[in-house]
Amino acid sequence: MSPIALNVNGKAQSVDADPQTPLLWVLRDNLNLTGTKFGCGRGFCSACTVHVNGRATRSCITPLSTVQGKRVTTIEGLSPDRNHLSAVQQAWIAEQVPQCGYCQSGFIMAAAELLARKPQPTDDDINEALSGNLCRCGTYVRIRRAIHRAAEISRADVARVAKGELA
Ligand code: FES
Ligand code: FES
Repeated sequence: MSPIALNVNGKAQSVDADPQTPLLWVLRDNLNLTGTKFGCGRGFCSACTVHVNGRATRSCITPLSTVQGKRVTTIEGLSPDRNHLSAVQQAWIAEQVPQCGYCQSGFIMAAAELLARKPQPTDDDINEALSGNLCRCGTYVRIRRAIHRAAEISRADVARVAKGELA
């Protein structure tokens, strides 16, 4: 079995594991990226959502072999560092979204993908994009508010760039 090459959070990785190993366990056990959570392990809750080539993907049902040569982004790679959080993460903090927090990285990754596709999503867009994500603590109302706030933050940033206020 030869190692499988993939790019995780902008870094080339070579993983020596069974090709059928779920990406979730490769991230957590081989690469020590534990921000991606195990919920059901069956594709039903989306707690394990990451991006594969920019698309929200449930890593618990994604075999390592299928991401060979692809770009994987986890919650750890969503922003360069704590001082430069993505609009979604800033909005999540401002709206104090999490309760226990267990499902939240999956929601944030799904929200980030939605906002990349649709910078100003409607409530219907949000419902559709996040329909597979489950939160046992019922933070759905705050999640919706945070996504709208993230859209506002991004809009304000674009306006500031246009005025030459942001590099
Ligand atoms: S842990 Fe992957 S969908 Fe639930
Ligand atoms: S915040 Fe607890 S499961 Fe979502």
